[in-house]
Amino acid sequence: MFKEKFQEGIISARDFTRDDIEYILAKARKMMTHEKNSELLRGKILATLFFEPSTRTRLSFESAMHRLGGSVIGFSSGDVSSIKKGESIADTIRTVENYSDGIVMRHPLEGAAKMASRFAKVPIINAGSGSGEHPTQALLDLLTITEEGLKLDGLNIGIMGDLKYGRTVHSLAVLLSNYELNVYFISPKELMLRNRDKEFLRQSQIKFKEATQYRDILSILDVLYITRIQRERFADIEEYERVKNFYVFTEEDLAQTKDEFKIMHPLPRINEISPEIDNSHKAIYFKQAFYGIPMRKALLAELLAD
Ligand code: CP
Repeated sequence: MFKEKFQEGIISARDFTRDDIEYILAKARKMMTHEKNSELLRGKILATLFFEPSTRTRLSFESAMHRLGGSVIGFSSGDVSSIKKGESIADTIRTVENYSDGIVMRHPLEGAAKMASRFAKVPIINAGSGSGEHPTQALLDLLTITEEGLKLDGLNIGIMGDLKYGRTVHSLAVLLSNYELNVYFISPKELMLRNRDKEFLRQSQIKFKEATQYRDILSILDVLYITRIQRERFADIEEYERVKNFYVFTEEDLAQTKDEFKIMHPLPRINEISPEIDNSHKAIYFKQAFYGIPMRKALLAELLAD
């Protein structure tokens, strides 16, 4: 059962089997057919601890919790917590678990969510751990793909941008490895997928290729998932300056794609997708933000309901 398996929380996409993914996708679809507001989590409190900036993840978790009848406490910057005074993650978690029934946490350290789950008696939801993972984003990405008329098995998907530091793409690639599909990883050489991520994908036997250009393969893709170059992760800002404008997807590119093609982006976008294509039916990145609510409602209901 999903609830028992994930009682410590949602830490990594690697913890998900295909059955787990299908289960939570089905639950999220049900959330879309239910009343917008319910009392399912009435009396429950969610803590949202964000040590890095966020618009979509924090606000959609908070909105989902409110819509399920629960309430929210937390902070949107580490600067206003006692971490600023030197308190450890472990002590923060051992404190906040007394005030809440579940904790959603974003932190710049890759292992932060895993570490937090070792100390917590309440479920921890990883809302982004450094360059490592962002599993709930990947789940809502799969919900978006399937709700927008595409099937995961048989999909030709390009994943383009900062594959080294982009946590959303790491979790997405791992979830996709549960399906029979083809992935094309497209990035500047400096920002290719890390060896440890590639090793995991090889073991999962997913079919993938790496490339530095996307135009040659645009016509065969069903989905192109673009991410921003993660400026905040670069130790050398000159390296960022060299690669920051590597890709800008334009109207001319869109014209090369097939009718059912979709372009996705977890957002925020900087300049990697031209705003001129925002109103195209092929551009579904703001729908991803919409699907964050039913997916996060489903996860919260599963983890926190009695
Ligand atoms: N997709 C995503 O994680 O967006 P935020 O950084 O705004 O939460």
